[in-house]
Amino acid sequence: MEIRGASAIVTGGAGGLGGATVRRLVAAGAKVVIADLATEKAEEMVKELGSSVAFVKTDSTSESSVQEALDQAASMGPVRISVAVHGGFGGGGRTLKADGTPHSLEDFRNVIDPYLVGTFNVLRLASAAISKSEPLEDGERGVIINTASIAGYEGTIGQVAYATAKAGVIGLTIAAARDLAVVGIRVMTIAPGTFITPAYGNDLEAVEAYWAPAIPFPKRMGQPDEYAKLVQSIVENSYLNGEVIRIDGAIRFGPKSPK
Ligand SMILES: NC(=O)c1ccc[n+]([C@@H]2O[C@H](COP(=O)([O-])OP(=O)(O)OC[C@H]3O[C@@H](n4cnc5c(N)ncnc54)[C@H](O)[C@@H]3O)[C@@H](O)[C@H]2O)c1
Repeated sequence: MEIRGASAIVTGGAGGLGGATVRRLVAAGAKVVIADLATEKAEEMVKELGSSVAFVKTDSTSESSVQEALDQAASMGPVRISVAVHGGFGGGGRTLKADGTPHSLEDFRNVIDPYLVGTFNVLRLASAAISKSEPLEDGERGVIINTASIAGYEGTIGQVAYATAKAGVIGLTIAAARDLAVVGIRVMTIAPGTFITPAYGNDLEAVEAYWAPAIPFPKRMGQPDEYAKLVQSIVENSYLNGEVIRIDGAIRFGPKSPK
């Protein structure tokens, strides 16, 4: 599918992976709505990228908020691309703590909510918006891209909630692709390994030194634009549908990754 002329929404568009995605989609000729909670960062991006982008303060878990972002996208062109790459609450910890306390149910829900429920919220509302766009070649109307994690396959110790949320995103991919085939909407999921983004804090050199030895090749963390390039390929290649693509330099998390 052609990116030029399409309108897109990127949840988490002011973040590391999302920001690179916004930039790449704009460079390829799309109009893009940055749907994020981070007003300051998003407004800087709007200043930098100009009239091809708009910012709508969005909470991916809220129906009205995501709908507002999609309405903005629809006002800029036919909505054909939705990328859910927002962050969330990363806490949780072990199923059973060393002192015998079980995992907090509230923390578990707080992790599942943005990463899984929010991703589905974006997917379902985006599917309605994209279904109103005119069909292109082969009847294709658009594509929805979710972001899982390799933790959805091999969650590490202390990651049970996050791993569950990301496994849910992996699991919904084929079912949603089958549901949406009738309206010509593809559904794909990207499962990143370790990418250098603000999610890892400020000392990115230390983070890279920690992870790099565990990554077979290339022996470094991923760059956000490498994620964004995959988004671009997925959009442009109409035969990709209903699948999850790992992008991880062949790393496989062990129980206490990276050890
Ligand atoms: N960086 C990695 O190595 C990596 C690996 C695997 C998966 N991922 C996934 O990629 C996604 C993005 O990660 P990142 O590294 O770019 O993080 P990031 O912290 O750089 O960006 C996340 C963005 O999402 C926004 N956000 C948080 N909650 C939101 C909500 N409820 N609604 C809308 N926006 C919200 C934040 O404001 C931020 O701008 C996450 O889902 C993460 O789990 C990242």
